[in-house]
Amino acid sequence: MRFKQKVVLITGAGSGLGLLSAQQYAAEGATVVLVDVNAEAIESAAGEIRQSGAEALALPADIRSYEAVARVVSRSVETFGRIDILANIAGGNPHRVCNCPGGFEEMTQEAIDWGIDVNFTAPIYFSRLVMPIMIQQQSGVILNLASVGGVVGGAGAVVYGAAKSGLIGLTQSLALAGAPHGIRAVCVSPGPVLTREAMANIKTPLGRAATPEEVTKFILYLSCEDAAMISGSNHLIDGARACGGYR
Ligand SMILES: NC(=O)c1ccc[n+]([C@@H]2O[C@H](COP(=O)([O-])OP(=O)(O)OC[C@H]3O[C@@H](n4cnc5c(N)ncnc54)[C@H](O)[C@@H]3O)[C@@H](O)[C@H]2O)c1
Repeated sequence: MRFKQKVVLITGAGSGLGLLSAQQYAAEGATVVLVDVNAEAIESAAGEIRQSGAEALALPADIRSYEAVARVVSRSVETFGRIDILANIAGGNPHRVCNCPGGFEEMTQEAIDWGIDVNFTAPIYFSRLVMPIMIQQQSGVILNLASVGGVVGGAGAVVYGAAKSGLIGLTQSLALAGAPHGIRAVCVSPGPVLTREAMANIKTPLGRAATPEEVTKFILYLSCEDAAMISGSNHLIDGARACGGYR
């Protein structure tokens, strides 16, 4: 029960790594705030978490809007009084999410904007709005979910890679800004993860993609007290893909 009496706000909690993280934080005692643009998914997930005995609140929002993010943060604090962990997990490759096949040279403005706004700007909005609460508490953890694409780039992920590189830099600066107030910032950069079957086709030197549990267990570790000395760093969990041996 590493997260007993902790309030954890998770974006992208409607599916994949965000949903699994929310379930695992709750299973270890946390009160969870589930945020996603998919209202049905988080309302059903929050209902199941409450049935298991933990506290959960679903707050549907399109996190590309600063006003929507501000409403989510206010509602969370009004309801639970604090935010101990902010997990910025919502994101994805805009080519896939915006159904925009082809290379960078064929990318639509809609896909470019989605790629930056969800993967990069929304974590800045959330961090900006949660920081004063964490400063008041003199404690907190901000966890950003980047990608190996933000470390080594990718021909099919120009905007995605740029946004995820930005998150790694954001984590470093948040760690410095937060340190005097007892606030940590950490970043996790997975290679392919089996949140969808197609990821099994992306190679790693270890010969497979990660299971979602391998990533979320690491997310929970980095945000718990055992990791109290870890801040500002980016942590690859990519089966050595960033070493280049897959090429
Ligand atoms: N799955 C992988 O192989 C992999 C690898 C490296 C990094 N990542 C990163 O991990 C994170 C989670 O990936 P996943 O595979 O679980 O993704 P996913 O697509 O299963 O989940 C992303 C969630 O974000 C939500 N979302 C999208 N746009 C939103 C918006 N505007 N406002 C609010 N919510 C929005 C979606 O509704 C969805 O529930 C992403 O940031 C992704 O870039 C994933």
